[in-house]
Amino acid sequence: MTIRDTGVVPTPMVLGIETSCDETGVGLVSEGVLLGDALASSMDSHARFGGVVPEVAARAHLEAMAPMVRTALRRADVSLADVTAVAVTAGPGLSPALQVGLAAGKAYALAAGVPLYAVHHLAGHAAVDVLDHGPLPERCVALIVSGGHTSLLSLRDLARDEIVHLGDTVDDAAGEAFDKVARLLGLPYPGGPAVDRAARDGDPRAIPFPRPLTGPSDPPWTFSFSGLKTAVARWVERARAEDRTVPVDDVAASFQEAVADTLARKAVTACTDQGADTLLMVGGVAANSRVRSLTEERCAAAGIALRVPPIRLCTDNGAMIAALGDLLVRADVPPDPLEVAADPRARLSGALLHGVRAASR
Ligand code: KG4
Ligand code: ZN
Repeated sequence: MTIRDTGVVPTPMVLGIETSCDETGVGLVSEGVLLGDALASSMDSHARFGGVVPEVAARAHLEAMAPMVRTALRRADVSLADVTAVAVTAGPGLSPALQVGLAAGKAYALAAGVPLYAVHHLAGHAAVDVLDHGPLPERCVALIVSGGHTSLLSLRDLARDEIVHLGDTVDDAAGEAFDKVARLLGLPYPGGPAVDRAARDGDPRAIPFPRPLTGPSDPPWTFSFSGLKTAVARWVERARAEDRTVPVDDVAASFQEAVADTLARKAVTACTDQGADTLLMVGGVAANSRVRSLTEERCAAAGIALRVPPIRLCTDNGAMIAALGDLLVRADVPPDPLEVAADPRARLSGALLHGVRAASR
């Protein structure tokens, strides 16, 4: 579908667009290298609601889209004419927010006369690690921990192969638990970074919160964070009922320890069971300082190599979508038609939103 016909094969350069939640992210990636990116957030507009308001986010994406594309192009020192493919998050996420990004992605692809890839947001979280740490191993276990998802996956070729779910959460995602616990502690939205900060001054052993589904007869790779969140709520309610000051820092540290311990335990046993020598940990919660340090410790003890993207690239951004598009282009995976639709609830089965597609050569 490339329209340009100069006789010269252009250097592949993917423009990535991310708008699934409250971040308008744009990135430019060429053959595994991040050339430039830009990020605008509507987080502050949602803070007083204690969560993201989809219509407010969509409006903010609309306003930020063209400026972010211009900024990313300027930072990469390229123009739209240099772009050879567009990749855009088409799900999962907030429907009105996804629609803005997908429409923009289609418009840029059409204007530049280049192919379009409608990709899965969570596969983007995994792909971004390639930018700092090089190609992924032939196979690895991935732990995706974000605001909406918590999954242990078996990954092979991210661009070509089907992604196998080893286990998922049966209720709240890890990030959701951070956000809810932050709210009940009176900490600001988004909760994860606020709990992380408060926990620095707290004692992680102060309160023995439960490690959900870690018993010998529990499913080893299934997660559940709703009971842990309720345990924290009950503890805080009891302290308030007894007129005790709630030790916010200790509660934050003890809750964070319970999440980190649960994630690290399950991820390490999944690697051991699958015979995988690499764990890839990605998504917003992978930015958490204790989740990172404890998982690192446990992986080192088990002889597992841990790959985690730099903190700035753990939370939603455009570089991750460009990185995934770049993998698809280099794997010769056929692009999507311009009529491709968004799917706010898409399950992760591969890099593309609409399932695995065989390479064209
Ligand atoms: O991956 P992400 O940016 O968006 C989704 O795809 O959901 O993840 C956002 C989630 C939020 O729940 C946020 O509170 C959490 O990641 N998060 C953190 C930290 N930074 C972001 N959770 C714990 N500690 C952090 N430092
Ligand atoms: Zn995300």
